[in-house]
Parts: sequence; structure tokens; C-alpha cells
Amino acid sequence: MTRPPLTSCILLAGGKGLRMGNSMPKQFLELNGKPVALHSFDLFSRMSEFLEVVVVCPKEFQSLFLKKKLSCPLHFAPPGKERQDSLWNGLAKVSKTADFVCIHDAARPFVTAEVVQNVLQGGFEVGAAAAAMPITSTIKETDGKGFVVKTLNRSTLFEIQTPQVIHIPLLKQGFQKLKEQQVTVTDDVSLVELIGAPVKLVTGAKINQKLTTPEDLRDC
Ligand code: C5P
Repeated sequence: MTRPPLTSCILLAGGKGLRMGNSMPKQFLELNGKPVALHSFDLFSRMSEFLEVVVVCPKEFQSLFLKKKLSCPLHFAPPGKERQDSLWNGLAKVSKTADFVCIHDAARPFVTAEVVQNVLQGGFEVGAAAAAMPITSTIKETDGKGFVVKTLNRSTLFEIQTPQVIHIPLLKQGFQKLKEQQVTVTDDVSLVELIGAPVKLVTGAKINQKLTTPEDLRDC
């Protein structure tokens, strides 16, 4: 590629956040004076690395993002049933000129520019990259009934975060495979794994945690 790759940011804010036990989706609860989703949105929409930002969210929350003075174009897409359906809807709104997408969970408000830039670099080099942190706890696999099947070797295990950066042609091939196999994935680079292409893990940040339960929000 002779010119720098063009990258669109897709911010996933279409979940219902049921584990938060609140009628308001977790990504729109107030955190330090603004909705959770606005924290990462403010970062992405200011970064010169992005061609545009596509926010996947319910129509009634679009106005929150429109209140902002933006330095790049903003598009919206409707949420889907599963996270992967929301990504599919977001991808449909990405400009034809884009080479890569950088996908982020709106429920991770503390992502830093440094993490984003490192994941972008990894994605540009390999085709697909995700932020990740080494596991520090011991992880055991169970039989689903509370009994241990085996203890996993934690030195090879990582907890996956977002952002995740993927070359758009690879992502489209992944979606084709996903539809053939009718599977559900819980992150974006899993789509690249489905077609057997490499995925690079890049060091994320401890602070880049996902807000899932009310305790997570209280601890911030
Ligand atoms: O449900 P989970 O915590 O994995 O969601 C991660 C992110 O994906 C959240 O920011 C959530 O709003 C988003 N999501 C979505 N559409 C869905 C499910 C989740 O945009 N159907």
C-alpha cells in the first residue's frame, strides 16, 4: 500500500446491558459527568487517524453524540440482536474508501490513545489485531456443573479487550464464514479466526476494562 491505510472507527453502543440491572443500557449511564459511551467517542472523534466514526446505537440515543463538535464525519447504524449483528450493521455504514475498521465497545470508557495507536499499528502489519492483557488468575475449565475438567496453562492465556482493528476484506470473508457455519462470536477478531487468518494481540491497558455490573461503575 503506497498511502497510509484509511480507517473507520465503529463504536458499538447497541447492547441492552442487562447485567447492569438498570433499564438504561450501561453505555449510556452517567460516569464522571457524561454518558459512558461519550468517553471513548470523544477520544476517537478527535484522533486524526480516523476517517469517520460510525456509532451503532438505538435511535433515541443518537442526539447525545450529535451535541458534540466533531472533527470527522459521524454516521449511525441500528443495533442488531447480537454484537456481531451490530457490527454487520455498522460495517454497512463505513465509507467505500476505508481499508480498515477499528471496532470498540462503548462499555470500555477508559481506552487510551496509546492503546488505540498500538492496535492500529498491529492491525496494519498483520491484517487483524486486538488489545489484550495477560491473565493473572488461574483459570479452570469446568463441566458446566461446577466440577473441574482441567486447569489451563495461564502463561498462554490473555483476556481480550477492544479496540480490535481488522482489514475490511478479511472481515467480510469472516462474516461469510460465520453465516455458512451459523455460529455466534463474542468479539470481532473471532471472525478472522474463522477463516484461519492470523490475529495479533497487542498489549492493552488494565484501565481499559469493560463496565458490566453496577459494581464496575461504582468502582470508577
Ligand atoms: O454485551 P457485551 O458486554 O459483550 O457488549 C460489548 C459492547 O457491544 C457494548 O458496548 C454493547 O453496547 C455492544 N453491543 C452492541 N450490540 C449488541 C450487543 C452488544 O452494540 N447486540
